[in-house]
Amino acid sequence: MALGKIPRFSPSFSPAEAVVVARQLLRPGDDDAKVREFERAFADYIGVKHAVMVPSARFGFSLLLQGWGLKAGDEVILPALTYFAIPAFAKALGVKPVFADIGRTTHVLDPEAFERAITPRTKAVVPTHLFGTPCDLEPILRIAHRHGIKVIEDVAQACGARYRGRRVGSFGDAAYYTFGLTKNITSLSGAMITTSDDALADDIRQRLDGGGRAPLKKPLKEALTGLAMMVATHPAVYPFTVHPAVVLGNKIGKDPIHDRFGEAERTWDKIPSYYRDERPGALQAAVGLKQLERIEALNGARVRNGRFLDGQLGNVPGVEAPTYPQGAEPIYMSFVVHHRRRDELAKALRARGVDTTIGYMANCAASDLFPEDTARCPNAERAFADLLHLPVHPNLSEADRAHLCEAVRQAALEVGP
Ligand SMILES: Cc1ncc(COP(=O)(O)O)c(C=O)c1O
Repeated sequence: MALGKIPRFSPSFSPAEAVVVARQLLRPGDDDAKVREFERAFADYIGVKHAVMVPSARFGFSLLLQGWGLKAGDEVILPALTYFAIPAFAKALGVKPVFADIGRTTHVLDPEAFERAITPRTKAVVPTHLFGTPCDLEPILRIAHRHGIKVIEDVAQACGARYRGRRVGSFGDAAYYTFGLTKNITSLSGAMITTSDDALADDIRQRLDGGGRAPLKKPLKEALTGLAMMVATHPAVYPFTVHPAVVLGNKIGKDPIHDRFGEAERTWDKIPSYYRDERPGALQAAVGLKQLERIEALNGARVRNGRFLDGQLGNVPGVEAPTYPQGAEPIYMSFVVHHRRRDELAKALRARGVDTTIGYMANCAASDLFPEDTARCPNAERAFADLLHLPVHPNLSEADRAHLCEAVRQAALEVGP
């Protein structure tokens, strides 16, 4: 533990991946061959026939909608609490995003709310395995099949999580994943689509053909940021640098980390063409392969930390811990708790050396970006207003976990319910 100071996150990028980057720079090799190798390994890991590496999850999502021929006037159902870029990309194609509420404490798509949102124009549903928690897929798949609706799993935050013993991403018609620096595994930019549908995989590959590769400076910049994050969150450095900066920033109403890594909410009239020429190459694929070797260890550490928090925080007054759909085996990408005075709780935790975040999910059903959707989603509304993300990253030590739980108990007592 770093003098009782706990960062909100810590990168999975490590010296092992830095060596891979250096090796790739010295001997670049063939982009196509390396990308195919990563795609094969990834498809085998998830348990599907095909994986196709794409520039970003949002772009991959838009390729899926196009691959199935969705057009203006068609509808796609998404959980209201989600990352705005996904419904924004549907909208960019003229496809209407329709929002359905989430479970009150599971935070993932509520199957009954999904069923209620179906209309004759519904063509697809996106069960988002948010915060690393698998959705209640059994009823969702049953309802979708009954209505002839395509199921696109959003696995951006749950790579490696299982539902009823099988990895998520292998249940729907297709799935997408993303490997940014703050995800559980990174390829220093880039994302993946998986499917067991041969024709769909061919279609996606054809749509990608002719697009250029991302310039090398993109993953290199990410690698340098990853190294900087490694150093900044190191126990010998963090208490004297980032932690005081966060405390100071908060005093003047700023969150320097959010400002650095957050993405401004915006909408797009068209799919930005630059994504077409941002296909990941050999360097990203090589880093992705290395991370895939470590994914079980990285997720295992998250699961240990998450279960500990589950066990300790269940009965802290005012703090509502998460619950999980039956059969879900989460990977704890985030550990979120509800508190009516979330900002005060965050402040009291900061004073005890624990950094937290409110995250970057929005209640899209109430967002100005999607004025055409007027559905009320009270659970998403509540989550948007009072969720706080506690540290759960793989680099937490046993002492960190104990300190964290004690800090939450004390902070909750100080703030009151
Ligand atoms: C749940 C979820 N879906 C989709 C995305 C979009 O991924 P990308 O930035 O690769 O488009 C993210 C991004 O982090 C996410 O958290």
